[in-house]
Amino acid sequence: MNEFLAVVVDDRGVATITLQHGKVNALCVGLLEALRAEAGALADREDVRVVVVTGGPKLLAAGADITEFAADPDPASFQIAEPDEVRRIGRAFLDAFGAVASLPQPSIASVSGYALGGGCELALACDLRVASDRARFGLPEILLGIIPGGGGTQRLTRLVGPAVAKELIFTGRQVDAAEALRIGLVNRVVAADDLDAATEELAAALAAGPRRSLALAKGAIDRGLVGDLAAGLEIEHDSFVEVFGTPEATVGVRSFLEHGPGRAEFPR
Ligand code: COA
Repeated sequence: MNEFLAVVVDDRGVATITLQHGKVNALCVGLLEALRAEAGALADREDVRVVVVTGGPKLLAAGADITEFAADPDPASFQIAEPDEVRRIGRAFLDAFGAVASLPQPSIASVSGYALGGGCELALACDLRVASDRARFGLPEILLGIIPGGGGTQRLTRLVGPAVAKELIFTGRQVDAAEALRIGLVNRVVAADDLDAATEELAAALAAGPRRSLALAKGAIDRGLVGDLAAGLEIEHDSFVEVFGTPEATVGVRSFLEHGPGRAEFPR
């Protein structure tokens, strides 16, 4: 627990990171540094089997803390942030969202309302996104005369393709939950009142899954995205061989042969 985040790990190994900063969870450098540290600590914990990121019942986050973008916010003497400060802010975004993206455990963004700018980029850094039907996503940076700096140009493009990503980034247009689902930006949309239950159901299912096997599947997908198909297939092959050396594979294959599909109870 710190000033900007609450982190709770339950006895099934579901870790929940809740952003809590002011009215809109503005992503200041302090929050980003805390997020990087918390994600790094969770990554090393074998008892943590899935990580949920939420901003609470109102919204995920309204993006970067814009007050940090000005060296002098006074309208009479306004000065935009100096390059070194911009570098510090941008690096804090990349490091924090990089720490979330590289968690070995599966991660879920649970999006109750707005996920704009860095809020959208944080959701994109998670493996899966579950959204309320009130959620809205967007990268509105262009409307401020800037561009995304927390991975938006890269992660959105990989998820929805360059044409849709360019349209959303060039115009700053927000998409509602239904459109987000249609373009593949979210995995699932539920009624606002059902968001916590739907997130919990998915998190519980993943937490009960084979921990090492999930990590190997995640690693093969993410590392395979970097290179060409042939390189990706070799990564999958190596992970396929490695997974057979895990206790999870022994439990799962044996259970299938003894009891049929889908009955395995994986080690805690
Ligand atoms: N950084 C810092 N402060 C922010 C902020 C941000 N990204 N977004 C909102 N705030 C502040 C507002 O200035 C306001 O402060 P105040 O209460 O002291 O006046 C407070 O948060 C609430 O914002 P408000 O716009 O009144 O709330 P809302 O519920 O009507 O709208 C949003 C919520 C998220 C739709 C709206 O705040 C918004 O569009 N924010 C900016 C999103 C954005 O452009 N992000 C990209 C950053 S690169």
